[in-house]
Formats: sequence, structure tokens, C-alpha cells
Amino acid sequence: MSRLMLGVLASGRGSNLQAILDAIRHGQLRAEVGVVISNHKEAEALARARSLPIPDVFIDPSLYASRSDYDAALVQVLKAHQVELVVLAGYMRLLTPALIGPYRNRIINIHPSLLPAFPGLHAQAQALAYGVKVSGCTVHFVDEEVDHGPIVAQTAVPVLEGDTEESLSARILEQEHRLFPCMLQLYADGKLRIEGRKVSIHE
Ligand code: GAR
Repeated sequence: MSRLMLGVLASGRGSNLQAILDAIRHGQLRAEVGVVISNHKEAEALARARSLPIPDVFIDPSLYASRSDYDAALVQVLKAHQVELVVLAGYMRLLTPALIGPYRNRIINIHPSLLPAFPGLHAQAQALAYGVKVSGCTVHFVDEEVDHGPIVAQTAVPVLEGDTEESLSARILEQEHRLFPCMLQLYADGKLRIEGRKVSIHE
């Protein structure tokens, strides 16, 4: 059986990428990472890929006149590696229709809050500042609006007395590492159905 080909976009540390690679290695995720792409040359995610070796590609934003041109270049790389599902694993750039169009309903993201609460940057700090008692993480398909597309799954994480951005982020991250590979496996099995804003899981 052919394996789902993933293209992972990551801007930094790449611990979610690592969780995906570990799940593949342990046979919990039947997929393959065909390429890892970053907008930062020094992203640890690229080094993780290189060490395996999985093709790692740095696309330099300063070489493109617009975000749309940048995304068109991204699509070329994704297509060259036969990517079927684009996985945003800590990818900190806004996506344009140049990428969303060719991969509609085939781009999936993980965000460190219970969306629609606290979209955008520093979601964990936003949650703490607001004073919520529960936060968490969300896996969702990507559409034209920021952190907005149909929600696949969420895990709740309690906010504890005395939590800092670091301590809350670490507890949420632990759950991200569990949730994301599981949802990717459901996608690989063809079990996720999107209808409007709703995603249902079919056996
Ligand atoms: C993760 O917490 C991820 O949810 C978040 O960035 C971190 C990346 O960590 N993504 C976003 O905030 C996207 N809006 P990682 O590089 O170790 O996977």
C-alpha cells in the first residue's frame, strides 16, 4: 500500500516534526515525510530532516517580491516531491491563495490554543493574560483566514495556578505531540470528511 506523502513546513524548533517522524518510525503513522521546508535557514527542523536524511529546503523570503510569489515557489517544491498533504508544524507565515488554492483541504495545522480562542502569535501568553482556566491545542484544516479552518480535533489542557508562558506551553506541547500524528493517521486512512466548517471521522 502506498504511503501518504507529507510535506512539512516549519519555521523553528521542529518538535512537532520530530513527533511525526517518531510516530512514523514506531509504525503509528503510515506516512512518509517527502520534504521539510522552512523560511528560516537555521531552523532546527531543517537540521532534523537533514540528519535522517530527508530532503530539507530553505526558501528565502527575501528573494520574493510578494508573499504570493513565495507561496508559488513553495508549491513548486511540494509538487516536485509529490506531496499529498501539507503539514504546518510551527510554520509562522501567513498563507496566500497561491498555496491554499492548489492544496485546498489538504493543508493541516496545529495551533497551541482551543480555537477560535487566541488565534495568531503567542497563543499561550494570550490565554494566560485573558485568565482562562482551560486552554489546549487544535488541529485544523487551513483556509484563507488565520487559524480559522475546519477543526479536526482539540485537546484541553488545564491552566494551573502560577503557570508561566513557558510552563503552559510545555504542557500544551506534550499534547500537540500526541494529537497531531494521530490526526495525520486518520487523514492517511481517508477517515476525515469535511463538510463546511465540520470535520467528521468515519470508520
Ligand atoms: C507549537 O506550539 C505550535 O503549535 C505553534 O508553534 C510551536 C512550534 O513548535 N504553532 C503556532 O503557533 C502556529 N500558529 P515546534 O517547532 O517545536 O513544533
